[in-house]
Amino acid sequence: MKKLFVLIVIAGTFFVYSCGGSENKPVVAENDATASQNSEASKENPAYDPERGKGKFTHVDVSDKLDPAMAKTGEKVAGLKCSGCHRMTDEKLVGPGWKGVSERHKPEWIMNFITNTDEMIDKDPKLQAQLELCLVRMPNQSLTDEDARGIYEFMRKNDGVK
Ligand code: HEC
Repeated sequence: MKKLFVLIVIAGTFFVYSCGGSENKPVVAENDATASQNSEASKENPAYDPERGKGKFTHVDVSDKLDPAMAKTGEKVAGLKCSGCHRMTDEKLVGPGWKGVSERHKPEWIMNFITNTDEMIDKDPKLQAQLELCLVRMPNQSLTDEDARGIYEFMRKNDGVK
């Protein structure tokens, strides 16, 4: 019975979704606690993994400790390519503030998004919701893998990793 309901909801949201109606969030059971933030998304578009996003990064090695050299590279690149739209606080500028961003998303999601920006905005429900608020589509910044990894490390530093 529940399954049937979920299926109907999924079918329904596909139609709504294509018109950008991200408020229409189906209520579905989800027992993986870590996926709870993204549970609506995975049910809406089963081919898209909202934890990992879409792109070439399937696993990013992250140590518990900060890599200061990497973070420094990231800080430099972010200063050039990102700071025009993102603050390091929770304040929105053109895009959302970066405070807590490394806790909100898995490293794979962030690395995939910042290197494969267009496809992720098209597919990721959270990004589409942000797009509705920000009214600007984040442009692809042509980052190298090294830049992207550095920026992720810089985000961790900003979120208090030492
Ligand atoms: C022209 C403005 C602009 C620039 C430049 C920009 N962004 Fe964004 N960014 C946005 C917007 C707007 C969003 C919200 C999603 C959307 O509307 O596309 C966003 C969303 C994000 C998010 C998701 C935030 C969250 O809280 O979930 C990350 C991560 C991000 N950007 C990283 C970057 C990085 C890294 C760079 C630089 C390499 C960058 N952005 C450059 C505008 C920008």
